[in-house]
Amino acid sequence: MTRPSLAQQAAALRERVARWDHAYYVLDAPEVSDAVYDQALRELQRLEAEHPQLRTPDSPTQRVGGAPRADLPPAPHAVPMLSLNNALTDAEAEAFDARVQAALAPATPRYCCELKFDGLAVSLRYRDGVLERGATRGDGAIGEDVTANVRTIRTVPLRLQGAVAPLLEVRGEVLMFRRDFERLNARQREQGAREFANPRNAAAGSLRQLDAGITTQRRLRFFAYGVAALEDVDAGPPPAPAGEGGVPVGTGAPAAESGSLLTVGSQSALLDALQALGLPVCEHRAVVEGIGGLRGFFEAIAQRRDQLPYEIDGVVFKVDDFAQQRRLGALARAPRWAVARKFAPREARTRVLGIDVQVGRTGAITPVARLEPVEVGGVVVSNASLHNEDEVRRKDVRIGDTVVVRRAGDVIPEVLASVPELRPGDAREFVMPRRCPVCGSAIVREEGEVIARCSGGLVCPAQRKQALLHFAGRRALDIDGLGDKLVDQLVDSGIVSHPAGLFALDAVVLQGLDRMGERSALNLLAAIAAARSTSLERFLYALGIRHVGETTARDLARHFGSYAAFAAASEDDLLKVPDVGPVVAQAIRKFLDEPRNRAEIDVLLATLHPLSAPPPPARAQ
Ligand code: IVH
Repeated sequence: MTRPSLAQQAAALRERVARWDHAYYVLDAPEVSDAVYDQALRELQRLEAEHPQLRTPDSPTQRVGGAPRADLPPAPHAVPMLSLNNALTDAEAEAFDARVQAALAPATPRYCCELKFDGLAVSLRYRDGVLERGATRGDGAIGEDVTANVRTIRTVPLRLQGAVAPLLEVRGEVLMFRRDFERLNARQREQGAREFANPRNAAAGSLRQLDAGITTQRRLRFFAYGVAALEDVDAGPPPAPAGEGGVPVGTGAPAAESGSLLTVGSQSALLDALQALGLPVCEHRAVVEGIGGLRGFFEAIAQRRDQLPYEIDGVVFKVDDFAQQRRLGALARAPRWAVARKFAPREARTRVLGIDVQVGRTGAITPVARLEPVEVGGVVVSNASLHNEDEVRRKDVRIGDTVVVRRAGDVIPEVLASVPELRPGDAREFVMPRRCPVCGSAIVREEGEVIARCSGGLVCPAQRKQALLHFAGRRALDIDGLGDKLVDQLVDSGIVSHPAGLFALDAVVLQGLDRMGERSALNLLAAIAAARSTSLERFLYALGIRHVGETTARDLARHFGSYAAFAAASEDDLLKVPDVGPVVAQAIRKFLDEPRNRAEIDVLLATLHPLSAPPPPARAQ
């Protein structure tokens, strides 16, 4: 195994990142995806941090940290835009609380808890309530003027509701919802343009544009989380000293007389006041006390993270009371009164030990990287999907490579990219096997298809197992207790080879299996018996016809009313069902015309009680 020396690696990375910077910033013609760029830059930063002698003054790392685009006008910040210190563990959050408590004793602080949006910080300046300037954070002192672009964000009010201070600077985050990000990338793909690595990069790339016409197509959003209010020099007192907190919104006139004209004394009241001015403020916020309260908020949000329409990378704890914030003050970079409690990273690096293939229910062959186990977002990952053969080539992942792995929520971990700098001399390319590793049938990839498939059909035990699991699944016949371990045993021992076989199981056979006592055998038999009376829609879904998901199965059941009517339908008849197009209609007919499937269905229909008719569609109220 021959690896380039560290100095050679660093030099190669420097040269590469510098070339990409030039292409991106000067030529406006990016050469690589953001993910590849970020990864190379991070690699260089890591090398230089570990071996400072490798750092050179001209290294691109010496310029990072919001180097403004030279072609966007500079936007100096009258009150610096600070950053936040991070707490990566419970212990670090506890230490933050302890420091705050000690500094404020004997008072006990309350904390305003917010989401930490994964977008980019911007500052919006309103003069007499009218949006005057929008700026990125830049290096905190000088950002980029993106006023025209900010104006295209539909949720940013161009005029605030109600009278406000002569000069009000609102701070918050610009981000892109996940579904808008996915749509954008789909469009980029269609047009052969660069895809964005994640919603944050997409938001940044869309806001930092010279042409606001592009920004307007990109559906950005904004959430306000603070202010840096400046009374007009002629009209009022200078800015408050403490970072971004402790400053008046409005002129101080009594709230009762002037609606949104408020003087607020806390972060939580500030958020309410911003909302009253017509600014979008995130609804997920809470005021809590003590480390227990902080932990509770963090855990509740961590649980709901994947249900949010946008990405967050943690939560933010802020001392609520502005007077207390001022007592705590700020250091050069970040305030002492706030901390970002970050989630464990969802990406990690590890080595590819091998690339295996897995066979899915429809025979789809998925290359899966076998990994040196690594912790990602709190879970140890030792396998990650590579999706398909083309993806393996596109990402250039080889056996022996170091790769970046991502695990998001409940989805299967995936390999994002390889790190070519760390590739050993003996790294091997993946070769798609010609035969199914499970049943030995030929693997075929049809013209124009991305997915290779095992041609063995239900002869292939892997497909059989998946078909059984699907058939028994919660949304299909819902046979509780029929998990993958049991299905493995049933299929491997030849006891059950197809769904109808499940109904022939008895207690004696079941008790002969590993880890199957009398009680679990009886429970399973009861679950199987209960599944005999199922609905038509569940039955149609359980069959596992390609392209027939739950919704289509329901539409089919409602349309035809009985299995016989469904089975007799021609492709034309099927096309009359809402949302059934030619591809689905053809897949259904193909499935029903296959003699093996017909035979299986006949046995099933003889076993299952008359399928209950689907309920009539709900009437509109
Ligand atoms: S407050 C002085 N609140 O996190 C306080 N920041 O690491 C400055 N961010 O640059 C920021 N959500 O882009 C604050 N609810 C939130 C936030 C938030 C996301 C970002 C912001 C900032 C970075 C600091």
